[in-house]
This record gives sequence, structure tokens and C-alpha cells, in this order.
Amino acid sequence: MFVFRKQVNVAIAGRFCKLRFKKVKETPYRRLCSTKKILTVNGKFPGPTLRVHQGDKIFVKVYNKGRHNITIHWHGVNQPRNPWSDGPEYITQCPIQPGGKFKQKIIFSTEEGTIWWHAHSDWSRATVHGAIIVYPKNGTNYPFPNPHKEVPIILGEWWKKDVSRVLEGFLKTGGEPNTSDALTINGQPGDLYECSKSETFKLLVDQNKTYLLRIVNAALNTIFFFSVAKHNLTVVGSDGGYTKQLTTEYITISPGQTMDALLTTDQNNSTLYYMAARAYSSGTNVSFDNTTSTAILQYKRNDAVRSQSSTTPTLLFPYLPDYNDTKSAFNFITRLRSLADNDHPINVPLNITTKLISAVSVNTFPCPQNSSSCEGPNGTRLAASMNNISFVTPSLSILDAYYYRINGVFQKDFPSVPPFLFNFTSEYLPLELELPKRGTKVKILDYGSTVEVVFQGTNLVAGIDHPMHLHGYSFYVVGYGFGNFHEERDKLSYNLVDPPMLNTVIVPKNGWTTIRFTATNPGVWFMHCHLERHLTWGMETVFVVKNRKNDPKAKLLPRPSDMPSC
Ligand code: C2O
Ligand code: CU
Repeated sequence: MFVFRKQVNVAIAGRFCKLRFKKVKETPYRRLCSTKKILTVNGKFPGPTLRVHQGDKIFVKVYNKGRHNITIHWHGVNQPRNPWSDGPEYITQCPIQPGGKFKQKIIFSTEEGTIWWHAHSDWSRATVHGAIIVYPKNGTNYPFPNPHKEVPIILGEWWKKDVSRVLEGFLKTGGEPNTSDALTINGQPGDLYECSKSETFKLLVDQNKTYLLRIVNAALNTIFFFSVAKHNLTVVGSDGGYTKQLTTEYITISPGQTMDALLTTDQNNSTLYYMAARAYSSGTNVSFDNTTSTAILQYKRNDAVRSQSSTTPTLLFPYLPDYNDTKSAFNFITRLRSLADNDHPINVPLNITTKLISAVSVNTFPCPQNSSSCEGPNGTRLAASMNNISFVTPSLSILDAYYYRINGVFQKDFPSVPPFLFNFTSEYLPLELELPKRGTKVKILDYGSTVEVVFQGTNLVAGIDHPMHLHGYSFYVVGYGFGNFHEERDKLSYNLVDPPMLNTVIVPKNGWTTIRFTATNPGVWFMHCHLERHLTWGMETVFVVKNRKNDPKAKLLPRPSDMPSC
């Protein structure tokens, strides 16, 4: 519906490579026996893969040929000094209106591996998303043997309804959104759903080779377990950074996260193997899509062999942990480690200048008098918050308000600690604690401050996992735990040696996660839960990182003249 132009690729050395321009229209897609029109980039679902090298700078021209406002975000690209092209609507830009266009400058820096791009306006990212592959700079290599081939594996969801209707519907009712009708692997639900079998994604492989799976969780509301029958995965990277090799039977991957995993085809070539993805959902009485998406791993065989075997090949199903198996989810997640070697040194801040503890909660608002529809628990409307502030999205961009010093768009007093201290993870909590405040509150950070954020999950309304994502930075995940965070005790368990560097991290149900980063990227940077329903309910805030005084190299870039207007 709108055109996605990868315009020029400016290599670091100043070489310019011209790349193809592409144009596409709105496309009808058929899934689960019914057809609907979806918003796409270049007509593709999932969208096209963007391939660059570490440190490239590219321009992408986004043409909105659809009927709704849109913005595009480059998830995991830190965009040094350039929040202008970051994408979240009303945070760093006004949306691109139907018929409008916006040329976005994407500055790659340290990222290497798989990241992704997606729409960052209402719920359109359900179909408007794709992978970004960042190859090592020419002349450098992967920190693992070159794979035979690479394969994007994009996990998503499919609603039979128009996704904008799903959003409108749950905003109206105040209750939970409709769960998706199918989970998808590379846009396909797979064998276990009606009308889907013939189009199941098939990966045809040679025997005794190593494949690099570039796995992206592009789903709105589903954390996934993913595994392949009889084949272990060796994770070598996550969120655009390399990790120590981690061999596992399954992975846990939240919306927003990406994982690079090696798969070696060392099994019997006459068997077919399922790859399978299904939800990890820990909340009690929280609805989720409990179906299972599959794809097939098939070994190539020569015709002579194939004609000899008359029987149909067996199809093996892999092990997947149970839906609510928090222990298995975190057994995997907490084993991720940075390489932390000479070629990939780490730089975890040790002396922290700015400490934040943020409660992350699902909340409820009482039913307003003029509203008949309050389908949250006990006739309330569901909400969500960080430090009890349920974020209100302004109608001007926060970045513009900051740049032009426009008062009244946001307040600078996002609390650095939860305003009420209570037993956050207790089984029973008084109902009055469920009520948050509304506000557009940001946290101001001085340039160069060393920041620690502890996300504390709470059991208000329903304890559940939260994949927290920060724009503009990759951060080190130094610790996780269950229950209430207790600084004196829990800081002793921090990993300051080889913590993974991520941009999205899961806060365990009724637990906490600690991240650290150094605020050297000036600008306005969104931080939010990457479960879309929680984002819509207000589980977000913004970091405004100031320029360094008298240092033009540590200063926000000037505002591009073609920024869309509100
Ligand atoms: Cu993947 Cu705020 O985004
Ligand atoms: Cu959440």
C-alpha cells in the first residue's frame, strides 16, 4: 500500500551503491479459508528483508499509499544522534499521512546480526514488518564458521478480522483484545490450521550443512517457544549483537527480540521435521492464542533414492515447553551471554550515576459515567503503567516539543522509584492499588550518565511477563530474579563480566530485570513494553538524553526539513 524505497547505500568509506526502487499496492491475502486486504510494504507479508553491512548509512523513502497514518521504526538500530528517523508516532515524529512521504536516514553503528523494521503507529505492525540483516563489515567475519545458507524465520500472528478493527474493538470495550486466529512462521500458519497445509513454509536443506536461522518475533501479543524436531539450535547472536554459543532444544523469544541460531542438518534425510512455534503465556485468566504454528524442514534427496521409498516419510514433532512454563522460559533466557572477548569487548557501566526502579503493572480505571462498555475485571477498563503513570500519547511529537521548547506537551517528572511501595508480587493485592495516574511524563538524562534501570513486575490485576524495549540504545542485562527486587541482596548476583547486550528484555512474571547503559546518544528515546496491548494501555515512558555541552559531535542532529507534520 505504500512504497518502500531503499534509496542509496552509503558505505562508510564513502562509496555509494545504487539500490533498486520498488513499488507495490494494497494486496489481498488469503489465510484460514478467508481473504482480507492487509497493509503491506511492497505487497509482501512478511515484508522485504533489508540487507546492509555494519556501519552503513542508508536512506529509505517511505510512501504512504494506504488509507491510514503510518510510521516506520528500525528496531534495534541505535541511530546515533538521529531520533528524527526512529519512527514511533507522536514520540519522535508525526505520522506520515495517506499520500504523504518521508525520507528516513538510517544510521547503522555497532549493530551486527539480525534486527528488524516495523510500523510504529497503532497496530499496523501486525503486517508491516520485515527483517534487517546486518552483515559484518567487508574484510571481517562472523565469530563462528560461515554458514552454508541463511534463512529468515519471522514469527507472527494472523487475525481473520482487519487488525485495526481488533484495536478499535478493545479500545471501545475496555477489556482484552481478541486473540489472533493463527500464529505464523514466515507468514504461514502451517499444517495444523484449516486451509493452510499446502502453503506451509518448507525449508529444503542439504545434508550435513550448517544453516543460520535469523529468527524475528514480529508478533503483537505473543511470546513464543520455538523448536525444531531432532535438531538443536545453537544461538550465536541476539538483538544485533553476538553471544557465546548456546546450544538448546528450544528458544524463548518475545515480541521485539531477534535471535541468530545455527542449525546443522545431521539427521536422517528420509524423515520430515517440524519447526514449531507456540505461545509462552504465564498470566492466569489472561487470554492468548493457544494454537501452534508449524513449518517443515525437509532434506533434499536425489530422485533414485526418492523413488525407492514407497512409504510416505514420517513427520516428527519437536518438544515445546508448556504454555505457562516460566521456569523453562527463563532457563533459556538467563543463559545468554556476550562474547566479551578481545574482538568483541564489553563496556558495562560499573559506577552508576542514575538509578531508576520502575514498577511495570497492568491496571484498571473505574468505569467512566458516560461509558456503557467496561469489560475489564469487575466492570473496569484495563490499563497499564510504569511507576503508576499510564502514558498518554500527545498529539504533537515529543521530539519536536523538546527541540522547539514547546511547553505543555510533556512533563519532566517521570518518577525514579515507584510512588507506592508495597509487596509488588504478593498473591493478593488491595484493589485500590490498581488505579494509575494518567500523564505524559519523561525522564531527563544528562549526556554520559551511567544508567541502571530495574524493572519490577507486579501482580496487580494479573502478573505476567513484560518484554521491555528501549529505542536508541542497546543495554546490558545484568540481572534477573523472581519476587521483589532487593538491592543489597540482588546486586550481588549481577553479571558484570559477560552480560548479553540486547534492546528488548523480558521481565519475568512477578519478578524483576536490571539493565545498564551509558547515555551517550542524545535525543528522545521511547521505552515500552513490546506486547502491543500493554503499549496501547500505557506501559511506556520516554528518555530525553541531553546534548553534551560545547561538543558538536555529541549533539542531536538538525531537524530534517521533510518531517511529516501533525
Ligand atoms: Cu519494536 Cu518501539 O519498537
Ligand atoms: Cu507488558
